[in-house]
Amino acid sequence: MTSQNLARTIEQAREAALEELRGLTGEEGLEEWRVRYLGRRGRLTAALRSLGTLAQEERRVVGAQANQAKALLEESLAQARRRVRESRIAGLAQEERIDVTRPGRPVAMGRFHPLTRILREICDAFESMGFQVVEGPEVEWDRYNFEMLNIPRDHPARDMWNTLWIDQEDDEGRQSMLLRTHTSPMQARTMERVKPPVRVIVPGKCYRYEATDATHEWHFYQVEGLAVDEGITLANLKGTLYEFARRLFGAERKVRFRCDYFPFVEPGVEMAIDCFACEGAGCRICREAGWIEILGAGMVHPKVLEGVGYDPAVHTGFAFGMGPERIAMLKYGIEDIRLFYSNDLRFLRQF
Ligand code: DAH
Repeated sequence: MTSQNLARTIEQAREAALEELRGLTGEEGLEEWRVRYLGRRGRLTAALRSLGTLAQEERRVVGAQANQAKALLEESLAQARRRVRESRIAGLAQEERIDVTRPGRPVAMGRFHPLTRILREICDAFESMGFQVVEGPEVEWDRYNFEMLNIPRDHPARDMWNTLWIDQEDDEGRQSMLLRTHTSPMQARTMERVKPPVRVIVPGKCYRYEATDATHEWHFYQVEGLAVDEGITLANLKGTLYEFARRLFGAERKVRFRCDYFPFVEPGVEMAIDCFACEGAGCRICREAGWIEILGAGMVHPKVLEGVGYDPAVHTGFAFGMGPERIAMLKYGIEDIRLFYSNDLRFLRQF
């Protein structure tokens, strides 16, 4: 082959290669192209091999041209590979609709229900005074809900609780199971299980056969407390509940205890705090009374202690029960108890 012919062959191979390369879009096509021009039997490789047939002077000139062509094709191939790879990635992004620059979706932050918050505050206050949180069944035996609490069958004291009965009769054909009307049954359940000293706090749901209005719900929470030990007196009750009132309603609070009746305590008391809104002057929250009743309490009745096998001559105790809805209503200025259970986000978002 003459040097002119070879030079033209190289020129043509180079032009054809570049032309073809421009139309290629896939990685496989690029590899085939490489084999066709730059592979061992490729068009340009063949031309390079023919250089050996030329005279030395011609070989130098045409050889330089051939090497340039080879370098150009290799560089063009590398560029084409980059181009193909980038467009493949762009295509994928398009296909999967991933826009990596788009801001993330905001995560909606939840919050605690106002009653959950109050329950936690109440339990925290008593836990820090050495009480242990326990829970009990919401479907309860008459025995625990009433009898063990010194409220025998057919006793008028039962009228203090409007009861939702379960279809479950005892041997005498009398209803024996109910939705618990208060958390007090856990007093007996706890004392049956453990020996003194006892210090428990019992948050839980209660139920009553009740027409609802702004201050009554047929289901609601209570928090019960019980402390039994040797030598517990009414002074311990007052000190503990006083500390509790200060924690929840402010360090300035005054407390007032007055006699009240509950069958399972003797003496029984009702506790009030001076109004945290008007400091006793009289306002809407305390209904002009200056005092707000927040719970019932008393010294555990000897009959209740005997019922669980404790000796009232050795062990004494105090108990108390409060309604966290009422406490939350006072603390947050909520006017209708039904709001707690109506799942209205406009209400819930305020806490
Ligand atoms: N269980 C009572 C109720 O539902 C509240 C109560 C009053 C609980 C006095 C007590 C207590 O432990 O000592 O009305």
